[in-house]
Amino acid sequence: MKTYDVVVIGAGAAGLMCAAQAGYAGRRVLLLDHAKKAGKKILMSGGGRCNFTNMATTPQHFYSQNPYFCLSALKRYAPGDFVELVERHGVDYVEKAPGQLFCAGSAKAIVRVLLTECEWAGVDVRLGTCVERVERRGEGMRLATSLGHVDAGVAVVATGGLSIPTMGATGFGYDIARQFGLEVLPTRPALVPFTLSEPWKARAAALSGVSVDVRVACNGREFAEPMLFTHRGLSGPAMLQISSVWRPGDTLTVDLLPAEDAQAALRKARCATPKRRLSTWLGERLPKRLAQALLQWYGAAETATPLAEYSNAAVDVWAERLNAWALKPAGTEGWRTAEVTLGGVNTDALSSKDFSVSEIPQLRFIGEVLDVTGELGGFNFQWAWASGVACGRAC
Ligand code: FDA
Repeated sequence: MKTYDVVVIGAGAAGLMCAAQAGYAGRRVLLLDHAKKAGKKILMSGGGRCNFTNMATTPQHFYSQNPYFCLSALKRYAPGDFVELVERHGVDYVEKAPGQLFCAGSAKAIVRVLLTECEWAGVDVRLGTCVERVERRGEGMRLATSLGHVDAGVAVVATGGLSIPTMGATGFGYDIARQFGLEVLPTRPALVPFTLSEPWKARAAALSGVSVDVRVACNGREFAEPMLFTHRGLSGPAMLQISSVWRPGDTLTVDLLPAEDAQAALRKARCATPKRRLSTWLGERLPKRLAQALLQWYGAAETATPLAEYSNAAVDVWAERLNAWALKPAGTEGWRTAEVTLGGVNTDALSSKDFSVSEIPQLRFIGEVLDVTGELGGFNFQWAWASGVACGRAC
């Protein structure tokens, strides 16, 4: 095999971006991936539309043991820079929610942009290539691959996190980190749906497909987003977001009426419309199926009772169910469906400027393999682009 200035392991979001930037900087670059296709997670992201950035990106939207590490790269490559790139390639996009940009068509457009950039930058892309070993060799690095040995001045590890193993996710990046003495912080699946145990599992299954706007809180964080009932539990943006701070055994507090103080509203309704039924009142505020289910779960007899017959105590009980519904998930769907990995390579041993390892400048880590994890909404791709650019330009 040839000798390269830079070899990038992993042709995902961060690796593609890094390889192109290093190529434009005049480096001879090899980009390797064991998968037969580049950017598989990009292709499946955002429901096939790829939520490729979030215009409101700030370090506050990331989880990391070192919250300052991501600052420099995010500052140097902003969401607007990626928007400029996709516009230059003629990709149409839409803002589906405030700040969240998605492809108007297929996510394939983003992979095409990145592969085109790699081609223009002269990157040698080798897919379906396994990397067996990574070693230090003098001032550079040597890789044992299924194509033979590759020598390079710099090796960039862009192998991503552990989510969706069927898409090619491996812990190889963590193995390399440990091999070179770096700490790997405990990993766990995040942005992942919750599973429930009985009777809530059956109850959620009966409501499968029902979505409701909620505010969910746990461990000092809260998110106001839609929640979705599924066959196995709870999903939707609210649940995916809170899964990043939830720990096994924790209880979620779900506000089913986030725009209303249920106690005050129910007391007011009891005076103003005493003959109305709770079912009617609930049905005006929640999806019909959920309103009916709540009455069924908590006392079918109440369906016919007029609001006038509710005591203050009974109103308070319902208000708590509606504004602070306490629910203890059994667990999460795990790596099989998680969007991202919390934890990973500890950033303390890395330069936030070029992502090199302090004692081994010819070794670098970028993207999700690092202990930097974004919230839902395009932040994870922005991190992949920003870390890829910062590293690639400095290679
Ligand atoms: P990424 O996982 O993209 O790439 C790693 C690459 O390394 C892969 O190509 C893999 O095959 C390769 N690799 C692994 N081990 C290897 C080995 N041993 N040898 C060679 N190659 C190896 N984010 C967001 O911002 N907006 C969104 O809409 C979504 N949506 C979304 C949906 C779903 C279903 C998932 C699973 C994830 C998302 N994400 C997301 C998260 C986002 O996809 C993720 O954060 C980035 O892809 C991370 O980019 P990386 O390049 O770090 O890893």
